Amino acid sequence: MATAPREHFTSRTGFVLAAIGSAVGLGNMWRLSYLTAEKGGAAFALLYLVFTAAVGVPVMLAELTVGRGAQRSPIAALAHFGSAAWKPLGALFVLAGFVILAYYGVIAGWTLRYAGAAVAGGLPEDAGAYFGEVSEGWDAFAFHVVFMAATIFVVSGGVRRGIERAAEVMMPTLFVIVIGIAVYASTLDGASAGYRYYLNVDFANVLDWDVIVAAAGQAFFSLSLGMGAILTFASYLGRDHDLPNEALLIAGADFGVAFLAGFMVFPLIFALGLQGAVIGQDTGTVGALFIALPSAFAEMGTAGRFVGTAFFVALIVGALTSAISLLEVVVAAAMDGLGWERPRAAVVLGGLITALGGLAAWRVDVLDAMDTLANNVFLIGGGLGLAVFCGWVMRDASGEAHAGSGAVR
Ligand code: PHE
Repeated sequence: MATAPREHFTSRTGFVLAAIGSAVGLGNMWRLSYLTAEKGGAAFALLYLVFTAAVGVPVMLAELTVGRGAQRSPIAALAHFGSAAWKPLGALFVLAGFVILAYYGVIAGWTLRYAGAAVAGGLPEDAGAYFGEVSEGWDAFAFHVVFMAATIFVVSGGVRRGIERAAEVMMPTLFVIVIGIAVYASTLDGASAGYRYYLNVDFANVLDWDVIVAAAGQAFFSLSLGMGAILTFASYLGRDHDLPNEALLIAGADFGVAFLAGFMVFPLIFALGLQGAVIGQDTGTVGALFIALPSAFAEMGTAGRFVGTAFFVALIVGALTSAISLLEVVVAAAMDGLGWERPRAAVVLGGLITALGGLAAWRVDVLDAMDTLANNVFLIGGGLGLAVFCGWVMRDASGEAHAGSGAVR
């Protein structure tokens, strides 16, 4: 057990921004759009909203409650309120952190690459060929390594100097960019076809088991639930937080950005007539947005260069604040469980995760398989396991959840 007193967030805003930073990421801006396109448009998005409100918010509150109550990282927290028999659930959380961050870093690496290309001279016209070149192999691995180095650097800095400070700068930047692009997209001719596609609910599509599981998995992934990320952040909170309120705020902001992301993506794609490249069961793949959007930006000329750069910068910012929380789960577990110092844990474990990411960088189908496994199995299983823990095992979970005033300091 670490002997130094546990670090705490400096302010409520710092914590809330860090937690929103964890939630808002590639999940909102890349995964939701591609799944919406693949799984049938607005009906999918609506189902995801239902899971967010009905399952996500309660599980979010459960993570906040266990984490803040125990003041420990996941494995130790479950053992504290339950018994050693619950440690495997905590271990599953840490494993999920390993797997998710490994491929998440690769996608973030693509993003870094695209942002660089947009700044340097515009994105290539033939975005499909470009994606093929940069998404797999040593190139993909190299950019993944750069992204992971940044993540490791922030996490090594600790809760206040690293995580909180990064979130305070990055999250407002992201909000401004996303809103700016959505407003810009609304001025394009043909944008309305995008809105019509995005907002027109057709229930025939959602009554499908595969679609339902995907929507549930997406709700957990997007809210960073089911693997102890929110739990770990909450373990750095004092008693002056009103947890139910915090849960609503974090989930609301996460959904808000996800919803807004559709207002950037679909008008852009429809205005440029690129819907054929992204929409439908066969074409909607992990890479779809990395192909359709850059083609849109390339066709838009100079404006596309600016908008494209802003878009990929927002994506990187979102990815970094999420990756930080993924690594923090693993690092906090090593600090509490093995007594490791933070920088050592960040470098050694971050290094191992980077190496594991080599598999996802090697082939996009491996990345896709890791993503499906992590979401539809680890996160849904982990989140429901934690709900059972809070409801049946932990004593007075409700008392802990309602302790605290939520005072703004
Ligand atoms: N919520 C993050 C996103 O939407 C991903 C994430 C999942 C982060 C699980 C932490 C834990 O991109």
